[in-house]
Amino acid sequence: MTDKYAVIGNPISHSKSPQIHKLFAEQTSQDISYDPILSPLHGFTSTIKRLVSDGYKGCSITLPFKFEAFQISQHLSESAQASQAVNTLKFDENTIYGANTDGSGLVRDIQHNLGFTLKERRVLLMGAGGAAYGVIPTLLSAGTNLSIVNRTFNSAQRLAEHFETLGNISILKYEELGSQAFECIINATSSSITNEMPPLPNGIFSPDALAYDMMYGRDTPFMRFAREQGADLVSDGLGMLVEQAAEAFFIWRKVRPETTPVILEIRKQT
Ligand code: ATR
Repeated sequence: MTDKYAVIGNPISHSKSPQIHKLFAEQTSQDISYDPILSPLHGFTSTIKRLVSDGYKGCSITLPFKFEAFQISQHLSESAQASQAVNTLKFDENTIYGANTDGSGLVRDIQHNLGFTLKERRVLLMGAGGAAYGVIPTLLSAGTNLSIVNRTFNSAQRLAEHFETLGNISILKYEELGSQAFECIINATSSSITNEMPPLPNGIFSPDALAYDMMYGRDTPFMRFAREQGADLVSDGLGMLVEQAAEAFFIWRKVRPETTPVILEIRKQT
């Protein structure tokens, strides 16, 4: 019998997850279906209840429901617990299990696909919203020397307090960045959606630096700035998207799909 999965979000029509999971299923000969489902903004819990009663085995969670998915989970993976955000639900014998595969997706894309080792690197993460919370536990466990910069300083402070027990995070203001250089800068702000550029100064990239935008599908002002500033590697977040999906697929099916051909195929389609 075909096992049913879905991705829940609002909006959802732009999601590439159905194509990604279809390619994974073909590649690993898994008999699954995977639908995009639009949840009303105030109806997340009832959407999940409906999926459970319709016999779905799990779902991916995208914006803006990752915190509600965390709250609804009865069991949590370590990274979901730490980040308080869930992007993968598994429905199992009346229990809802929540995991967060965003962080491992990001770290795997950077280290495995782009070949950039994160251990002991000076990493600057821009942003202090949901996207940043989701990846910080894994960036810390990868051994980065992590700094956060955010437009609203208070939210960055709250973030550092939240993760205090996991490791040391330096909190910076954009105005303070002039005198430092980083080996890796990750854009976890929503600035690329509005085609804006966070106020980074010239000279912020060390030689051989990586610039990574968690946004995917098009060149962003941050990626263009990074190229102009001589960053060695510049990447969008498509690899992260496919890697986090592969980790979710593994949680559901206990089979790990190969990601490289899927990244190439999805890139061809965009
Ligand atoms: P998400 O869940 O995608 O992280 P969010 O919670 O709304 O979305 O957070 C958006 C983040 O992008 C915030 O850190 C925001 O900074 P503020 O806390 O100061 O609002 C950041 N952001 C959005 N537009 C930005 C811009 N043009 N320059 C710098 N930071 C920006």
